[in-house]
Amino acid sequence: MDDYSSLPVEKWWGDEHLYHWRGFWFRLPYLQATQEVLNNFNPLPSDVILTSFPKTGTTWLKALLYSIINRSSSDSLITNNPHELVPSLELQIHRRDIATTHSFAGSPSAGIFSTHIPYQLLPQTIKTGECQVVYITRNPKDTFVSLWHFVGKSNKPWPLEMALERFCSGVVPYGSYFDHVLGYWKESLVKPKKVFFISYEELRDNPKTHVKRLAEFLDCPFNGEDEEDVVEEIVRSCSFERLSNLEVNKSSDCPTWLKLPYNSYFRQGGMGDHKNYLDPEMNKRIDTITHEKLHGSGLVF
Ligand code: A3P
Repeated sequence: MDDYSSLPVEKWWGDEHLYHWRGFWFRLPYLQATQEVLNNFNPLPSDVILTSFPKTGTTWLKALLYSIINRSSSDSLITNNPHELVPSLELQIHRRDIATTHSFAGSPSAGIFSTHIPYQLLPQTIKTGECQVVYITRNPKDTFVSLWHFVGKSNKPWPLEMALERFCSGVVPYGSYFDHVLGYWKESLVKPKKVFFISYEELRDNPKTHVKRLAEFLDCPFNGEDEEDVVEEIVRSCSFERLSNLEVNKSSDCPTWLKLPYNSYFRQGGMGDHKNYLDPEMNKRIDTITHEKLHGSGLVF
C-alpha cells in the first residue's frame, strides 16, 4: 500500500499526524514498516517475539530475554544498548526511511525480535508459526506518564491535558493502548504456551520468580546447583540501576532509527509515578476509560 491519502488522519502531538489503519493509529514511517513486516517477516520456529505497547518496559524485557536465552549477558549489555541486542521489526529492521545496513548485535543468531504491532495485526507467520510471543504491559497511568515524558524529550511541547485526551481517545502511536493490551491478553488466555503475558508491576515486584517462569515458558529452564545465583545475576545485570548507569546507555548519541539518545529509554524505572502528575480529574478520566475497556476481561491493574 503506497497511497495513504484515503486513511483517516489525526493530529496527536504538535503538528505530528497519525494514520488510522485496521483499527490502530500509526506514524507513517512505522505504518509502512509494519506493512513490510506483515508482507515479509518469516520467523523461525525458534524465534522469540517480544511484543509491547510503547513505554511499558520493553527495554528491560529485551535485556532480560536476551540474558535468559544466552544465560549471561553482562558483557553484551556493557557494550550494547538492549535495543541493539533485540532489534525492533518495524522500528529498525523493516524501515524504508532509514538505511538498514546496520548489523544488529543480537540478530539473527539470537533469534529475538521485538515489535509494537498489535496482536490483531500480527502477520499470520507469527500467529500460526511455532515461534513464541512474550508480551509486557504496564498499568495505563504509568504508561501514559512515561509516554508523555518520552515524547516531551523532543523539542515540541505536549501539554499534559492534551496528551491525556489523546491517550484516552487512543490516538497515540500503536493506540489504542487498551485494544493493544486486550488483543495480547485474550490470546494469552487461549494459547498460554504461545503467548506469555506479564506486567511491569509483576516483574518489578518479583523479578526472580518471573525470570524463572519466562525461562520455563521458553523451554530453557534454569536447573543445577547454581540456579539461584544465575537467576539473581540476570536480575541484577538487567536492573534499572545497573543498565541506566552503563556508559552505553548514558550516551547522548542518537541512533538513526530513533532520533533520540539511548538514555531516553531510562528515566525513573519505578511504579506509581503518575501520582506526581495526574490530578483527581485526570485520574477519573483514565479510570473511567480503563473500566469501560477492560471490565469483564479478567485483566486488572
Ligand atoms: P519510566 O518513564 O516510568 O521511568 P520502554 O522500554 O517500553 O520504552 O519503557 C520505558 C520505561 O521502562 C521507562 O519508564 C524506563 O525508565 C523503564 N525502564 C527502562 N529500563 C528499565 C529497567 N531495567 N528496569 C525497570 N524499568 C526500566
